[in-house]
Amino acid sequence: MWTPIRTADGSWTLRDETLGQACHSLSGAWEQARLRYAEPCRVRELGRERPVVRLLDIGTGLGLNLAAALAALDGTLARLEAVTFERDAQVLAHSRALADWPAEVEPWLQRVHAALGAQARAGDSIRLVLGDAREHLPTLDEAPFDAVFLDPFSPQVAPELWSEAFLAHVASRMAAQAVLSTYSASFAVRLSLARAGLTLGRGPRVGAKAEGTLASWARALPPLEGRIERRLARRLGGS
Ligand SMILES: C[S@@+](CC[C@H](N)C(=O)[O-])C[C@H]1O[C@@H](n2cnc3c(N)ncnc32)[C@H](O)[C@@H]1O
Repeated sequence: MWTPIRTADGSWTLRDETLGQACHSLSGAWEQARLRYAEPCRVRELGRERPVVRLLDIGTGLGLNLAAALAALDGTLARLEAVTFERDAQVLAHSRALADWPAEVEPWLQRVHAALGAQARAGDSIRLVLGDAREHLPTLDEAPFDAVFLDPFSPQVAPELWSEAFLAHVASRMAAQAVLSTYSASFAVRLSLARAGLTLGRGPRVGAKAEGTLASWARALPPLEGRIERRLARRLGGS
């Protein structure tokens, strides 16, 4: 069901053959993990500010976004405490079986795999929650999260993790200064995040994707285009 594909920066992704969708942009899976998720969610800065960085990772996939979070914390004194949701345990088994990763990825991904398995290093804490994220998110005990990586398959093939109800639950788990990042720039997704009460911002250009979406309760974010802000304001005011 999962087919490996080498992306343009040398890192692997996996394609779900049932949905016909790869876990990453083919322009670079590792690039996407670093630039779409770890950087805009300020993981390194968080690691300089506090002893523990709490991360909510939606769509574990190969574990690359988690690996990028660990890489971002390198050289800080902070520990990662992540909760990661995945519906299909097979994707992780496939990720473990892939060899010949770029040298800059391999140690971090190995640490993710170790933390998810029996040989966790003291300090790393990555709790894998297997099953449908919609069912499990409301039952989490963890404290508010400092960062959220929202990385499900696209709304066209997996609309359930983009629903207004699910995104409102995600928002309710975020600390005031937390930043959520996603690759989606769809108006419907932005409207749902805004309806949850979050302030929105423009996520960076990564590979072929001109922009994504950032969201936070209280942190200032790079502004969306004016016409999108106005359209959102109209819909929020009128609906
Ligand atoms: C785009 S991939 C994630 C890539 C991943 N972030 C990484 O760093 O490799 C999306 C993942 O979400 C998982 N998924 C899809 N629907 C889900 C659901 N309802 N609950 C939890 N995980 C789900 C898929 O199995 C897939 O592994």
